[in-house]
Amino acid sequence: MKYRSAKHLECFWDASNFFVKNLMTKARISTDPIAASVLCSFSELRFVSDVAQEIELDENVLDSEVASLLSLGFLESEEQGGAGKHTEEGFDAWVPWGKEGLSFYFSTRGAPFTESTDEVREEITKDPSPPVFKEYKDADRIFLPRHHEDPGHSYQEVLYRRRTHRDFVDAPVRREVFSALMAMTFGVKDFIDAQQFGALMLRTSPAGGARHELEAYAVITGVAGIAPGIYHYNVREHSLELLQEGEFRDPLTRACDAQSGVGEAPFSVVLTSVVSRLSFKYRHPRAYRVMLMNSGHLGQTFALTATALGLGPFQTAAFNDSAVEELLGVDGVRETALYVLSAGVPAVDANGDAVLSHPPMSLEGSRKARFE
Ligand SMILES: Cc1cc2nc3c(=O)[nH]c(=O)nc-3n(C[C@H](O)[C@H](O)[C@H](O)COP(=O)(O)O)c2cc1C
Repeated sequence: MKYRSAKHLECFWDASNFFVKNLMTKARISTDPIAASVLCSFSELRFVSDVAQEIELDENVLDSEVASLLSLGFLESEEQGGAGKHTEEGFDAWVPWGKEGLSFYFSTRGAPFTESTDEVREEITKDPSPPVFKEYKDADRIFLPRHHEDPGHSYQEVLYRRRTHRDFVDAPVRREVFSALMAMTFGVKDFIDAQQFGALMLRTSPAGGARHELEAYAVITGVAGIAPGIYHYNVREHSLELLQEGEFRDPLTRACDAQSGVGEAPFSVVLTSVVSRLSFKYRHPRAYRVMLMNSGHLGQTFALTATALGLGPFQTAAFNDSAVEELLGVDGVRETALYVLSAGVPAVDANGDAVLSHPPMSLEGSRKARFE
């Protein structure tokens, strides 16, 4: 009988222990690095006798090692369909994302949920809950207008008019418009009584467990009445807390792969996550997916609200995390950058139509299209 190591294995050290984990089955064994070398020797279908000879190990010893690795699912036999039909089929689409992509997928898939019983809630809330609001108490601040303009467009109009814009006019955005966008996207809509979890805020977007772990930082160049600089949006006060005064559009643009959607925009908003606010309640890896979904929700609300207010939205995930985090002064561990959102008044062409990098389909273009 020939054997081969299972397909999706990951090795790591945790404290002083060496672990091998089967990403598919979630089984993990604390072992000696020698076991990893045995697994390595079976990187293709091989007989125990051949491997024993190669690594100069007694065949009987290796046989029992193989039997235990087999029973734990770290080795597969030829009989199991050439080392795992089930472990290889259908994974082609994941290949471009490498081991890292698969590791994220498997580690956050089928994660065990903790049932939300009174006992569990009590256990969790034994520790002090992380603050709902992040604030820079000593920072200079700009209180934004409390009266928000009603954009006054129909929902259908906004929904169908939203496009991604990368060209903007070189004119400042009105303070009231910027303020309305921040309030409607990131501000407090309401408060709820979350019992053991205390008072929590609601936004216009949903968020897993109403934890609202996401923070917004505005990098402003062209908003009338607001000095250029990097600001933290204080959700509770609806104010901007000044972190650094000056022009930071260029460094932000460089950190975003020099994209014009950021480079031309009069302001951008960087979304970050204060991880503990979410991990405090959700103590399983799947919560990482929830965090990314939450950021997508805010991104979409930002895009629709900007559209309703007559702005063109842009969004990008293509940025250098450390460079962006350094600009904001966050550590990238406790608080990590997730999404860069920009907006401005869209540039128009000679016909008065917004300049779009992907214009509507032409007859010529449609000839290339094959939708079968
Ligand atoms: C998560 C996410 C990341 C994106 N990243 C970029 C980006 O890095 N650069 C860019 O030019 N557009 C980016 N976009 C915009 C998409 O290219 C755009 O939404 C798509 O082409 C469809 O066009 P539309 O938004 O005008 O409907 C991103 C969109 C999303 C949702």
